[in-house]
Amino acid sequence: MLLKDPKVLIPETKIMNRVHELASEIAFDYRGKEITAICVLKGSFIFFADLIRNIDLPLNCEFMAVSSYGSKTTSSGEVKLTLDLTEPLEGKHVVVIEDIVDTGLTMQYLVENLRARKPATLRTCALLFKPEALQCQLDLDYIGFKLGKEFVVGYGLDYAGRYRQLPYIGALESEH
Ligand code: PRP
Repeated sequence: MLLKDPKVLIPETKIMNRVHELASEIAFDYRGKEITAICVLKGSFIFFADLIRNIDLPLNCEFMAVSSYGSKTTSSGEVKLTLDLTEPLEGKHVVVIEDIVDTGLTMQYLVENLRARKPATLRTCALLFKPEALQCQLDLDYIGFKLGKEFVVGYGLDYAGRYRQLPYIGALESEH
């Protein structure tokens, strides 16, 4: 299968406007508190960097990595923790930051895993959310954009490791 260049779904300016709005919402909700922001690698690194730079509160950055897609476009359904946090979360105000929630299995796994570490509060943030693809019960606290079922790349998201550096969110179309 050959791939054409991704079609622009969400342009850079629209992403940045929404990122600013989400950051303001989070800063308002956590006013007077300190946040532990968890970047879920790899896909979230660009969104995370843009989002936290607009949150005007004391904030700790933590990193985790999970994988369930490998080089495929569909989830294997099996979530693997490939990099864990280095700090305890007990008593902290934790926000998990994901680039995308598709089947929801990754976020569901993360919420269960992080809850067990007894944070004071735990909220979830995803730039992109595909409600029609959701395969589990999941409540997201902060959502950037809702999408259909198209496979998207760019702004941190990849297809087989490529396209993460695109400044926009694009849809991949196959060409036979
Ligand atoms: C992507 C994305 C989420 C997950 C969402 O990660 O970053 O973590 O898939 O999919 P789900 O809702 O169907 O579980 P991926 O496994 O592709 O790893 P990556 O972030 O390293 O690219």
